[in-house]
Amino acid sequence: MTAPSSTPPARLTGVGVGPGHPDLVTLQALGALDAADRVVAPSGAPDAVGRAESVVRQVRPHLRVERVVFPMGTGGPSSPASGPARELVPWLDAGEHVAFVTLGDPNIYSTFSSLASEVTRLRPQVEVTTVPGIMAFQALAAMAGVPLAEGTGALSLVTALDGTETLSQALEDPSRAVVVYKGGRHLPAMAKLLEEVGRLEGAMAGELLGLPGQRVGPVAELASGPAAYLVTVIVPPAGRVDG
Ligand SMILES: C[S@@+](CC[C@H](N)C(=O)[O-])C[C@H]1O[C@@H](n2cnc3c(N)ncnc32)[C@H](O)[C@@H]1O
Repeated sequence: MTAPSSTPPARLTGVGVGPGHPDLVTLQALGALDAADRVVAPSGAPDAVGRAESVVRQVRPHLRVERVVFPMGTGGPSSPASGPARELVPWLDAGEHVAFVTLGDPNIYSTFSSLASEVTRLRPQVEVTTVPGIMAFQALAAMAGVPLAEGTGALSLVTALDGTETLSQALEDPSRAVVVYKGGRHLPAMAKLLEEVGRLEGAMAGELLGLPGQRVGPVAELASGPAAYLVTVIVPPAGRVDG
């Protein structure tokens, strides 16, 4: 099945809308939403308003948002994206410019990457672009007043969906700052590990940033139990604990 050749060139744009605060949506993202023929958001169910859609509702209350349902894995919406991609095909075949909104940035751990790959497989002629978004760890660093990297310092972004192994490896270099995504279920284990290696002091957690139920505080205080999937942890370099 190929797209009719007489239609205008279709475009798919992944639009990062930031972590949740409406004031962290960039002007470029707003422009992309306004310019698109159709705005699409990932969702866990046809009747569920996803996080990215809730941000769009705040910044563009009158904009119609289509939902595409992504299968729910243990860690939130995930691949396979073939079903959602097929839902976009009729719009793209009609030559529409489709904007797909995603939390944070569309090129970092985003449903957009797998969606775009699948769309490209189905419709190689579709032009795929992205609009960068502010990421949760940047928002958390700003809220907590924690500079993460200076000079020639390094920064690792790791995940803890399946446990603390990758975090443990990243902590082997004490001069390296670490950001942990997808670690909600393992927050108590992360706190224990950070304490063991002397990095608990200064480590901050941000849960549901910019969204209802937001919590921001030291990991030591927030780690009495598991946190939500949407939790971010930042660990400044050893020996440079601010505040
Ligand atoms: C699937 S990744 C999405 C990352 C996103 N594309 C970005 O650029 O920030 C989901 C992880 O991002 C982090 N995250 C995204 N939005 C967040 C928020 N509002 N509050 C806290 N953490 C968030 C959490 O670590 C969560 O487990």
